[in-house]
Amino acid sequence: MQIENVFSQLPQVATDRLILRRMRASDVDDVYAYACDPDVARYTSWAPHTSPDESRQFVRRVLDAYLEKRVANWGLELKSERKLIGTGGFGSWDKEHGVAEIGYAMAKPYWAQGLMTEAVKAMIEFGFKRMALNRVVIRMDPRNTGSWRVAEKCDCRFEGISRQAIYAKGTFHDLMVWAILREDWSWGR
Ligand SMILES: CC(C)(COP(=O)(O)OP(=O)(O)OC[C@H]1O[C@@H](n2cnc3c(N)ncnc32)[C@H](O)[C@@H]1OP(=O)(O)O)[C@@H](O)C(=O)NCCC(=O)NCCS
Repeated sequence: MQIENVFSQLPQVATDRLILRRMRASDVDDVYAYACDPDVARYTSWAPHTSPDESRQFVRRVLDAYLEKRVANWGLELKSERKLIGTGGFGSWDKEHGVAEIGYAMAKPYWAQGLMTEAVKAMIEFGFKRMALNRVVIRMDPRNTGSWRVAEKCDCRFEGISRQAIYAKGTFHDLMVWAILREDWSWGR
């Protein structure tokens, strides 16, 4: 498949415990189940969803991105429960420079079991193998210990803090910048 067309049919990716798959309109309830949780949205750029309609709009935006062949989230389905427990994927892709950024979120009952590290490793591998990336970036609120641990365990390096990098929830926020280069990448070759 041509690199340009990699997102025309977002390929499914399997890990030990997860399936990274295309989202479906029927995922709305599972998305709302985690996106309405203030703990999940504590350090995200988005506020907790206040109704399933907000989750429906989110899923619609993802489905539109598939149609328009843009970078888009996978749904993270837990194999053992055949249930969508989170989302994640590439949010931006600069093809000229071979750089893309990953974002992710998962339902609280599934935290601290290494699941997002497993998913993000698969996304990084996808980026190097299928998108010809040279650099994969993950940025997060410096207070988001769980998220920067994911980056660290995926062999990303801490590069610094972008001061007041985003405006969200009524104020500016610093973001930690973590990244892995193709030359740092040791697994999955
Ligand atoms: C951040 C997040 C994705 C981590 O997912 P996860 O599956 O728990 O991650 P992992 O288990 O692979 O690794 C995270 C590590 O941080 C720890 N951790 C998880 N949640 C934590 C929390 N709330 N506070 C502190 N540490 C936490 C885990 O114990 C684990 O520790 P270890 O490195 O010693 O094994 C998940 O907490 C989440 O979805 N949070 C809400 C959305 C979010 O913040 N997304 C990121 C935006 S940049």
